Amino acid sequence: MGVKAKIAPSMLSSDFANLASEAHRMVEFGADWLHMDIMVRPLSSKIRCRNCSFNFTLQFGWVGFLLCSCSNFYGFAFSCVGLGNTDDSVLLAQYELIKLSVFIFDGLLAVHFVPNLTIGAPVIESLRKHTKAYLDCHLMVTNPLDYVEPLGKAGASGFTFHVEVSKENWQELVQRIKSKGMKPGVAVKPGTPVEEVYPLIDSENPVEMVLVMTVEPGFGGQKFMPNTMDKVRTLRKKYPELDIEVDGGLGPSTIEMAASAGANCIVAGSSVFGAAEPAQVISLLRNSVEEAQRNS
Ligand code: DX5
Ligand code: ZN
Repeated sequence: MGVKAKIAPSMLSSDFANLASEAHRMVEFGADWLHMDIMVRPLSSKIRCRNCSFNFTLQFGWVGFLLCSCSNFYGFAFSCVGLGNTDDSVLLAQYELIKLSVFIFDGLLAVHFVPNLTIGAPVIESLRKHTKAYLDCHLMVTNPLDYVEPLGKAGASGFTFHVEVSKENWQELVQRIKSKGMKPGVAVKPGTPVEEVYPLIDSENPVEMVLVMTVEPGFGGQKFMPNTMDKVRTLRKKYPELDIEVDGGLGPSTIEMAASAGANCIVAGSSVFGAAEPAQVISLLRNSVEEAQRNS
């Protein structure tokens, strides 16, 4: 197999106050890439009265009754993020609740993809001044197109967007990512069928990496989901030369599953940063990938 093992410590588990020295430490310990998780939270949602078109803007975290200016209609609404329930089903529940009442849900002004908030282009730009390392950026946002320009300018190396939010514009995204000199990748959440990324790999202007999420995106330190390995196996069989990255819950106890399935880019946050000897974990991850490749 021609694909090289790449070990990418996830900086989400690093000490953000010392990002530059954390980056240097990881490179010295043998990291090939530095994985940078970029996520945003929603700001507010918009709701309109069916009767008089009065507009409400709900800040996230808001819960309560709505009484509109025509005073005839009211309903109960809540902003799911503030309740700590942030998955799609709750968002739908919010929508249903509003629909049942007389208000029209006009859409979120800024929609969340994951319930967390991390770093953005300014941090990438600052870090770039301290390191030449490959910055493997994983965009957990609903509007990746908006980040291509700023991240390109900031010095990102890889730009991986989620297929779930890019069905309409992935061609434009890939083209713009490449034009900014970055390597385009596409990520899939655990519940998304792998077939959804085929058109992006088979395209004339293809993505150059597929990131298979092995936990629900959002947080470090979650439990690896072994059932996501079928996707890695399927991809490796179909695309022997493709960079296949796995992200979430990877460490000494789970690497064999991912490596034997065919993953070659390994993101590892808590298992590396939480180790007494991070260099040993990085080298163990690399050895597992290389050994699995020799045995395949
Ligand atoms: C989760 C992020 C991961 C995370 C992995 O949404 O995409 O990159 O940092 O952390 P661990 O390795 O701790 O699961
Ligand atoms: Zn990630």
